Amino acid sequence: MNVEELREELAHFGQEHLLEFWDDLDSEKKQELYDDIKSTDIGEVLQFFTKAMENAGEVEKVDEKMEPIPSELIGSVTRSGKELEKWYNEGLKQVANGKVCVLLMAGGQGTRLGVTYPKGMYDVGLPSTKTLYELQAQRIQRIQQLAYEKTGKHGVVPWYIMTSEHTKDPTEAFFKRNNYFGLIKENVVMFEQNMLPCISFEGKIILDQKHKISRAPDGNGGLYRALASCNIIDDMEQRGLKYCHVYGVDNILVKLADPWFVGFCIAKGANCGAKVVEKAYPTEPVGVICRVDGKFQVVEYSEITLKTAERRNQDGRLMFSAGNICNHFFTTDFLRELAREHEPRLKHHIAKKKIPFIDNSGERIVPTKPNGIKMEKFVFDVFEFSMDFAAFEVLREDEFSPLKNGIKADKDNPTTARHALLSLHHRWVLNAGGRFVDKDGTPIPAIPSNSAQADHTSGARANVDYCRTTNSQKATDPDEYPVVCEISPLLSFSGEGLQPLCDGREFTPPVLLSEGDYQEDKESRIDNN
Ligand code: UD1
Repeated sequence: MNVEELREELAHFGQEHLLEFWDDLDSEKKQELYDDIKSTDIGEVLQFFTKAMENAGEVEKVDEKMEPIPSELIGSVTRSGKELEKWYNEGLKQVANGKVCVLLMAGGQGTRLGVTYPKGMYDVGLPSTKTLYELQAQRIQRIQQLAYEKTGKHGVVPWYIMTSEHTKDPTEAFFKRNNYFGLIKENVVMFEQNMLPCISFEGKIILDQKHKISRAPDGNGGLYRALASCNIIDDMEQRGLKYCHVYGVDNILVKLADPWFVGFCIAKGANCGAKVVEKAYPTEPVGVICRVDGKFQVVEYSEITLKTAERRNQDGRLMFSAGNICNHFFTTDFLRELAREHEPRLKHHIAKKKIPFIDNSGERIVPTKPNGIKMEKFVFDVFEFSMDFAAFEVLREDEFSPLKNGIKADKDNPTTARHALLSLHHRWVLNAGGRFVDKDGTPIPAIPSNSAQADHTSGARANVDYCRTTNSQKATDPDEYPVVCEISPLLSFSGEGLQPLCDGREFTPPVLLSEGDYQEDKESRIDNN
């Protein structure tokens, strides 16, 4: 260790305070701090900081330059009619041919949710107690199965998972403990995104402990750097993958490797695409995808005036209505181009945060108001490099319910996520010809009026053999979604294949339909015959 040299280097960058507590440290901690600083390209970090702060000053309104995405580049699950089937078949064919992978961005710290473990390990209280990770793993298995049934070919959908220093170890351990949820270990590839030092408003790198720099993940746009540095692009190439569905961890309804979305983007010749939901009302705080100066980008709600947000087309729909849901399509060729060429041009955004720090007396302080910034790149900031972009509009109630906040928040919390899934599965059963009755046999209306009116007594056993009784506590909760009905992703990806199980049947909630049920049902029919 050449401490004097390091001291000089730090002084050159105005960061000598990082060694302020050097004499207090034992030799092990000294080595840790030395390595921590040495592994950081201080010059680069400060350059990022200066640029990010400059950009932060100029949040300009972009109204004048905004144009909606041209309608020919938008597909829609509700308005695209017969084309949907073509896209679905194309998507499944690519899955069967082993050309499609999924990439989960799971490096976020999940501070809003308020748990100490990765968000994907969260159980929102479904009857099955499945976590977000398990639901996603099973959807991958189901889509592989559907592709096989369609084509007779066993295509694998590799699952890339981007973690960060905070989420890596617990995520790996969780997958191991759960035997990769039935997936083959080699097809679940975890890699780690970069961390960047947190910096005070005055441009000083913050110490989290006397011997440790405070760091935060470099944003979900850190994906592109990590794809190159962790050799993920090479791995994709070796596996012969051509298309990648990138998504955030928190959406309980996410359709992994969605064949409609993948098939649509392929049909449009897109190298980059985004799933969107229609913005609900002009002031809804979501970013919208549009073109600015002819380039595709996400414009945050803070960047446009109310007047622009309220503009409507002749048909009455909002002109800027393409709400971003963090679900993106990329060709692997374009990902390679982004990682190798464009990544350095992505700007960092700043997030003002309360960052714990060591004060002059050596005490660790947890501040009560923001004292510094985290620097983050955004995954969608690469849209501007795409000349072949497409957007696919889906229904919010079918595809988007993010788990962002803790139980006390009034939206995007574990309860709203659970209800969204139960509501979707309730509708699947009705569409497949099933009905719901309460324990006295009284029909439950297809559109439940309100949860308090529905009587869901504990432990009520379903009147069909293959329905499992489920968590009785949830069933008696007056705030619970009135029809507690969960369907395993191994049984259905998006409502398909349920008719043999549901048509003409009555179910008494709580109901949990899982993969074994289909077999049992088939067998019981054979016995009955
Ligand atoms: C994100 C979108 C926002 C969209 C919303 C929908 C971005 C930058 N913003 O917002 O436009 O309306 O989702 O739900 O995409 N992540 C990492 N590493 C990081 C930071 C985040 O992997 O350093 C992951 C998270 O684990 C998560 C995803 O990126 O899976 C989204 O991050 P989050 O912080 O939840 O973004 P939002 O602000 O909710």
